[in-house]
Amino acid sequence: MCGIVGYIGKANAPSALIRGLRRLEYRGYDSAGLAVLDGGRIEVAKAAGKVSSLQDRTRELWDQDFFNRITTGIAHTRWATHGPPTEVNAHPHLDQSGDIALVHNGIIENYRNLRSRLEAKGHHFHSETDTEVLAHLIGDCDKGDLFQAVCDALHQVEGTFGIAVLSSREPGKIIAARRGSPIVIGVGDGESIISSDASAILAHTQRVIYLDDNDIALVTIDGVDIRDLNNVPVTREVAELTMSESAAEKGGFEHFMLKEIHEQSEALSNAIRGRLDLEAGSSVLAGMGTSPRDLAELTRVVLIGCGTSLHAGLVGEYAFEDLADIHAEVQQAAEFRYRNPIIGNCDLVIAISQSGETADTLAAVREAKQKGAFVMSLCNVVGSTIARETGRGVYLHAGPEISVASTKAFTCQVAVLLMMALRLARGRRLSREDGLALAKDISAIPQLVQKVIQQEAHIAELAKDYTKNDHAFFIGRGPMYPVALEGALKLKEISYIHAEGYHAAELKHGPIALLEKGTPVIALACDIPGKDKTIGNVEECRARGARILGIVTEGDQEAADCMDDYIMVPRCHPLVATIPAVVALQLFSYHVARLRGCEIDQPRNLAKSVTVE
Ligand code: G6P
Repeated sequence: MCGIVGYIGKANAPSALIRGLRRLEYRGYDSAGLAVLDGGRIEVAKAAGKVSSLQDRTRELWDQDFFNRITTGIAHTRWATHGPPTEVNAHPHLDQSGDIALVHNGIIENYRNLRSRLEAKGHHFHSETDTEVLAHLIGDCDKGDLFQAVCDALHQVEGTFGIAVLSSREPGKIIAARRGSPIVIGVGDGESIISSDASAILAHTQRVIYLDDNDIALVTIDGVDIRDLNNVPVTREVAELTMSESAAEKGGFEHFMLKEIHEQSEALSNAIRGRLDLEAGSSVLAGMGTSPRDLAELTRVVLIGCGTSLHAGLVGEYAFEDLADIHAEVQQAAEFRYRNPIIGNCDLVIAISQSGETADTLAAVREAKQKGAFVMSLCNVVGSTIARETGRGVYLHAGPEISVASTKAFTCQVAVLLMMALRLARGRRLSREDGLALAKDISAIPQLVQKVIQQEAHIAELAKDYTKNDHAFFIGRGPMYPVALEGALKLKEISYIHAEGYHAAELKHGPIALLEKGTPVIALACDIPGKDKTIGNVEECRARGARILGIVTEGDQEAADCMDDYIMVPRCHPLVATIPAVVALQLFSYHVARLRGCEIDQPRNLAKSVTVE
C-alpha cells in the first residue's frame, strides 16, 4: 500500500526521503516519486517500479551540490488503485501552477465531480489519479495562505486521505493532514519528518506525534502546530517510539501476519468504501460489468479458487444461493481445469485469487472463457495476470499481503463476494428491505472486526491451553462450515498442529473416533440458523472428553456455558458473521503458533504465490 515521507531539516532532503521510502518498501508498491524545494521552484523526480529506480533517476537529474543544498521535500511509494503504475500516475502531483506538490494515501471518492468542476475552470490534468485532482483543488483554493488552502480543499473532499503538501511560494513548511489514513510526525532536533508509518521516522528520532482524523499540521524545522479543519488549535501528545529497527518494517508488529490481522479493519473499509448503495439496499460494483439483463439471464454461479481463496468461495456459495436465489457451486481450480466442466454462456464464473497469479486458477479461467462463460475475477493485486485475463471483476483493495498465511485478503474476499451476491440478488428477487438490512451490516464490518481484535489479549491467554495437542478439529454449519475449514487451515499452516475442519454433522461419521480426553474441538457456534444443532454436536464431543473452544455470539451466555472456553463475536447478519468469526480464529492460530515458536510468516514448505500446478 502507498507510503508517505516528508522531510524538513538542515540538509540533504533527497537522501533522507529515499532512506524513508526504503523503510516503507515492505508495504508493497509499484512506483515512487519525490518533490523537493529548490529556492523558488519545485523539482520532481518519479519512476515506475522500485525506489532504487527512483534513486537512479534523482542521480541522473541532480548533482551532489543540489543534493547538499536541498532541505525540504515530500516523497511517496504508490500501490496502484486509480490508473496503472506509470510514471505519470506516480506521486507527487502538482497543481495547475506547478507551485504546489502533493503526496496522498487513501481514496478521494468524489474526485470525478471535483475534476469536472476544475476542468470547467480551465484546469488540465495529466494523470488518471484522484490525487492530482486534490493537488489542483488545493491550488485553486490558495489565496496566499497554503494552510488555509489545504483546509478549504479538504472540506470539499469525500473519502480518505493522509497527505503532505509543499508550496514553492511558502518555503520552510510542509502541511500534513489525515482522515482515515495514518500520518505520524517525528519531532527531531532541528528537523521534522512526516510519514504514514513510524518505521520511516526511526532513523531520525523516537519522538513522534500521531495525527487524529481531521487534524491538519503545519510542520517546520522547529516542530509542529496542529489544528482541526476549522483552523482551531488542538493538542496531541508526543509519544516515544519503542520499536526496534528490525521491527520497523513490520510497522512495530512481531510478524507480518499479526500486522495484517490488525490491518483488517482498514483493509475492509477500503474494500467496501463507495461500493454500497444504502438507499437502494444494493451494491455498486462497476467492475462486474453486468447489465440488469445479464443478471436476469444467469442461471448459475461457479466460484473457483485455491486454498484460502477457495474457502472464501464457499462462503460466497451460501451467499449467492441464499440471497440471489441462484444455483451456486464452488470448484477447486485444479479440479475444474481438468474435469471438462459443464459450463455455458449463462454461467457466471468468478475466479478468486489474492495474488492473481495462481497457476491452477489461471488455467481454470482460460478453460471457462473457452467454454463461453461470463468470467470475472476477484483479485487483490492490481494488474495481475488473472485480473488482466478476465478483463472484468472487482479488486479487493486490501493492500499488500506479505505473510504466507492469508488473513486480510480472506475477509476482504468474503466482504466483496457478499456485495456481489447482494447486487445479483437485488437484480432478481431480494426485497429492498432485506437488501438494506444486509447492506447496513456489510458497512459495519470494519467495526465488527475491530471489536474482535480488541479481544486479542483474551485470545492470546486462551491460546496457552492449546499449544500441546497434536490434533484439533474445527466444526461449523451453514456459512460457518467454510469458516471451520479456514480456521483449521490457519492453525495447521502456521502452528504445524494437525487440524481438520468438518461440517458439525459429519464429525460423528468418522472423525469422532479420534477424540480423546483433551482433544481440542473449536466450535463455530454463533447465533445463526443451525446453532442449536451445532451445540448438540458440541455435547457429543464433550461426552468423549474433548476440550471445546466456542466462537459464540456476544450476549449468548447459554451457548457460552456449553463450552470450556469461548470467544464472543458481535451479533450481525449470519453471512456477515463469518468475518468476525474468522478473525477470532486467525488470532487464535497466530498466538498458538507464536507460543510454539513457529516461523509464522514463512511456514515450512509453503509459498505465498503458487505459480506451478
Ligand atoms: C498459496 C498460499 C495461500 C493461498 C493460495 C491461493 O497456497 O499459501 O495462502 O490461499 O496459494 O492463492 P491466491 O493468490 O490464488 O489466493
